[in-house]
Amino acid sequence: MNQNELKKAAALAALDFIEDDSIVGVGTGSTVGYFIEGLASIKHKLQGAVSSSEDSSAKLRALGIEVFDLNSVDYLDLYVDGADEITEHKHMIKGGGAALTREKIVAAVAKTFVCIVDGSKQVDILGNFPLPVEVIPMARSYVARELVKLGGDPVWRQGVVTDNGNLILDVHNLEILNPVELEAKINQIVGVVTNGLFAKRGADIVLVASESGVQQL
Ligand code: A5P
Repeated sequence: MNQNELKKAAALAALDFIEDDSIVGVGTGSTVGYFIEGLASIKHKLQGAVSSSEDSSAKLRALGIEVFDLNSVDYLDLYVDGADEITEHKHMIKGGGAALTREKIVAAVAKTFVCIVDGSKQVDILGNFPLPVEVIPMARSYVARELVKLGGDPVWRQGVVTDNGNLILDVHNLEILNPVELEAKINQIVGVVTNGLFAKRGADIVLVASESGVQQL
């Protein structure tokens, strides 16, 4: 199986977690793309979805799935999303697709976060994948200097503007031994909207696809 087939296997396994008549929180990325295709096959069972990006909203609507504003939803049972890296503690780096802030918001609301990954995303220590940080445009250089003080090498993801109108700094060369602490520290820098560490609120369930099948952690 190639990586895309593994992503698809993990994504389709997440369909089993969907309750009848529910509104599903939907993440962003290529793995979630397969999940959205799978959702279309059971859309008669759903009320609809809350989405974490304009990209996922467009995909959902194209398949006839209603997209709700998060503010109009009282309760979200399930959020399904991929990750760029994930540890055995279910801490993650996310934001390779620049949707980290909305992803973190929808994840915060949902009762259960199901993370769908192929085995290549599993790591012992986070940080080999550059950590995305969403920043207010006028704070870009200041935030970059502060991130250097924390030991990272921030690189501006040029040409990318988030759905919220902000910029992304990708922080290289971090060895993240305490993800909960670093997540909080980076979020305290003035001008940071959020960072791609999902540690305080990690995943609840991880579906990992490998050659031997999909394993639930
Ligand atoms: C999007 O901003 C990310 O958080 C994605 O969940 C993450 O980058 C995983 O993407 P793929 O499913 O495309 O690997």
